[in-house]
Amino acid sequence: MVRINDNYLKLRGSYLFSTIAKKVNTFVKENPDKEIIRLGIGDVTRPLTPSITDALHKTVDEMGKAETFRGYAPDLGYEFLRNAVSENDYKARGCDIAPDEIFISDGAKCDSGNIQEIFSVDNSIAVCDPVYPVYVDSNVMAGRGGEYNEITEGYSDIIYMPCVIENNFAPQLPAKVPDIIYLCFPNNPTGAVISKDELQKWVDYANENGSVIIFDAAYEAYIRTEGVPHSIYECKGARTCAIELHSFSKNAGFTGVRLGYTVIPKDLERGGVSLHRLWARRHSTKYNGAPYIVQRAGEAVYSKKGKKEIKGLVDYYMNNASYILDGLRGAGYTVSGGVDAPYIWLKTPEGMSSWEFFDHLLINANVVGTPGSGFGAHGEGYFRLTAFGSHENTKRAVDRIKAL
Ligand SMILES: Cc1ncc(COP(=O)(O)O)c(C=O)c1O
Repeated sequence: MVRINDNYLKLRGSYLFSTIAKKVNTFVKENPDKEIIRLGIGDVTRPLTPSITDALHKTVDEMGKAETFRGYAPDLGYEFLRNAVSENDYKARGCDIAPDEIFISDGAKCDSGNIQEIFSVDNSIAVCDPVYPVYVDSNVMAGRGGEYNEITEGYSDIIYMPCVIENNFAPQLPAKVPDIIYLCFPNNPTGAVISKDELQKWVDYANENGSVIIFDAAYEAYIRTEGVPHSIYECKGARTCAIELHSFSKNAGFTGVRLGYTVIPKDLERGGVSLHRLWARRHSTKYNGAPYIVQRAGEAVYSKKGKKEIKGLVDYYMNNASYILDGLRGAGYTVSGGVDAPYIWLKTPEGMSSWEFFDHLLINANVVGTPGSGFGAHGEGYFRLTAFGSHENTKRAVDRIKAL
């Protein structure tokens, strides 16, 4: 009889957003006159910009004509997009990444979940705590988690690197060396960033110990502070230890369009084997490419007009972030993030748990955020608000919280 992959049974239910939805639905039913403002989700709300929609319209028409119709995309993605990425995201920043080291995909979630497949199941992994849950769950599914411990709220075989107020939400180099290290800066959920010098320490540590860093740069477009690295390849030696993930979701609003890319430098080898070769093999076997029309839309992100529009989108959200940050700080909350990231991370007041604060905000301000404990044990006592709402709603939500 067939046996299931019982690693799946070790997964914790993804109860965070379903519990939030249940609590909000119950509240709405019981209080039909109250208007809820949601600052909880990580999805964008602004529409695609004209350069993007123009590219989409144009290429849909191309697909409708025999002379310009396109079928399967090339394995790594179309050259026009890989060239644009290499030029704009890397060469312009002094990073040496060639177009054929870039793998176009349908987003960073799939890549961050799938990349672990090219590594042995015996490898140990390290993650920040709190963390974007995909890194943990995809490794648990593969059998790298060990057993879940209800008391520590973690898996026995995973190295958790606490990111708390005391260390400025930046992880410390672990004493026990992990094989694979997941880093995400600007960070979801804390909104924290690290300096180039700090990131260089991770690169040196990985090179000294033979570890591989998986660097999630999904929020890179939100960086405003000088000296904060946009790419791990700004650090010396990163070509021999780091894989980088990117998304078009948060900068260009592609959450529903789907586009991303992964970089694996050709110098990155372990056990004498090129990781680029393994991922290329995996990509060509299991993936048939992001749609041509979407890759053309991605190319438009790098046009002069596209860049200006995308900056407008990011500025729009960051204006919200400043409003939240200033408003809550003024009201006496301890807040961080929100400067180089669209996430604001606040310490719950008066020793409230993350869920107690969730209920408090829902009931008294009719505002929905995300309890920090949903992202890991060290998220307890914190709360995430996002800058992805409309200006109007963000302002109203902050004013309501200030009035509590
Ligand atoms: C850290 C991080 N990586 C990746 C993603 C997913 O990005 P994509 O929409 O490209 O799949 C998210 C989405 O919330 C994220 O927060």
